[in-house]
Amino acid sequence: MRDVFDILNNIKAPQVLDAATGRGDFIHILKQRLGHFVRIVGVDSNPKTVEYAQNIFPEDEVEIYQMNLEQLSFRDSAFDLVSISNALHHLADVDLVLAEMMRVLKPGGHLLVSEMYQDGSQTEAQRTHIMMHHLVAKVDQRFGNDHFETYLRQQIIDKIQALELTDLQIKDYNIPVTNPKDAQNCENLKRNYAGILKRIESLEDSQALIVEGERVQERIHEHGCAPASRVLILGTKPL
Ligand SMILES: C[S@@+](CC[C@H](N)C(=O)[O-])C[C@H]1O[C@@H](n2cnc3c(N)ncnc32)[C@H](O)[C@@H]1O
Repeated sequence: MRDVFDILNNIKAPQVLDAATGRGDFIHILKQRLGHFVRIVGVDSNPKTVEYAQNIFPEDEVEIYQMNLEQLSFRDSAFDLVSISNALHHLADVDLVLAEMMRVLKPGGHLLVSEMYQDGSQTEAQRTHIMMHHLVAKVDQRFGNDHFETYLRQQIIDKIQALELTDLQIKDYNIPVTNPKDAQNCENLKRNYAGILKRIESLEDSQALIVEGERVQERIHEHGCAPASRVLILGTKPL
């Protein structure tokens, strides 16, 4: 399969760190697509996702730890590649986390960022995903969890450009969806909604969030669903 992750095929990175690894979804891509690696370390602050990822990667070459990205317990220059996928909009202090990721990255090593964004010429079905995501983020915030609206595309690029990497490559990509109204495409969003509706209803002032949720439901019916566009950015830490 030729896709945006072909960019990884020529990278030889013995030591890899996947920051905010969640359930480890991006580790599957790194394992399949990197030209060479010896060890992939995934870190996340959520003990539940850490336990999940530890169970699905029993192999020695993958290690998963619970850790706060704002204070990584790795020495300087420990990794040849440091990645973060779909997590910048979950971070309370993005700049501090990026600085930590740069600290543990070797000079000559690669920084890889993949992040969905909210603007650009996205289809109505993609806008359904973005609206649902923003509703979930609002509800998460009400329950005290760090989760924010997705960034504008240029905001993501500006943050990474500020790190002064060399050989910066920026590629937009979509997960293709043939029929957005196909029930399968909307299954996740519908499941998400059922979950957050319960949480919304437990809030005292739930009315505005319920109205927002109903609007998303109407969109699912009218336009269907498709994943929002993402930008992939790869750069090299100067020697
Ligand atoms: C959407 S998930 C990541 C998904 C995963 N990387 C992927 O591509 O499928 C965002 C993750 O960021 C983690 N996170 C947020 N702030 C963090 C921090 N300061 N330190 C470590 N993990 C953090 C959350 O616990 C959550 O698992």
